[in-house]
Amino acid sequence: MLTIRQLSRSFREGSRVHRVLDRLDAEVRPAERVAIMGRSGSGKSPLLNLLSGIDRADAGAVESDGVEVTSLGEPARTLFRRAHVGFVYQFFNLIPTLDVAENVRLVLELNGVRGAAARTRSLAALAGVGLAARAHSAVDQLSGGEQQRVAIARALVHEPRLLLADEPTGNLDDETAREMLPVLLSLTRTRGAMLVMVTHDEALAAAADRVLELREGRLHARPATPGHRR
Ligand SMILES: Nc1ncnc2c1ncn2[C@@H]1O[C@H](COP(=O)(O)OP(=O)(O)OP(=O)(O)O)[C@@H](O)[C@H]1O
Ligand SMILES: [Mg+2]
Repeated sequence: MLTIRQLSRSFREGSRVHRVLDRLDAEVRPAERVAIMGRSGSGKSPLLNLLSGIDRADAGAVESDGVEVTSLGEPARTLFRRAHVGFVYQFFNLIPTLDVAENVRLVLELNGVRGAAARTRSLAALAGVGLAARAHSAVDQLSGGEQQRVAIARALVHEPRLLLADEPTGNLDDETAREMLPVLLSLTRTRGAMLVMVTHDEALAAAADRVLELREGRLHARPATPGHRR
């Protein structure tokens, strides 16, 4: 369960202060998949950075499965993020000097899982996205869609409670995005993880359990779309 209460975050722009998030409230239930939409500059990425503990709020609270992330100091937030949060980014952010399996395994190693256990789990995660056969490929030998599936495996390998995705299909063509979507949605659901994904893609949003729009610093419910499915 993710509970966001009265969350505020401002950024200084020269002499003026821009309040990007303004006493924002929201809840995400276990295994729920929420899409966040909103205009460019509305603060979607800054919101994800607060949910993950990369950034700190000016006021308010983010409580993730009983842990008040906002009140933790920097080292504790880093540990929390490593253990309990997974990320999928628009530009994949894979490490080009590591092969596919090493990219996935790194997350486990950062969490203290090493050796055969780490190898087995990373191969299983790659199998889950249909890429076991590419485990020892160089990252740049993969297509964009395959790279994003590696990124999904990496985001889920340590079984995080919360998966955050910032425009995960933003750098993929429509067809590749449509292939990736069920992988992302079904894997988070079968693992019981919460998914919060920022997207400009209506098709992606329509596949989420709930769509919220970030506007004027707060999240607003959007009516369910006809294609809505659970
Ligand atoms: N680390 C930061 N330092 C200063 N200002 C920031 C920072 N992060 C975000 N902002 C400001 O917050 C506002 C909203 O952020 P941002 O543009 O990333 O929102 P977004 O909804 O993710 O947009 P997009 O859809 O273009 O990704 C912007 O005006 C941006 O300049
Ligand atoms: Mg953004």
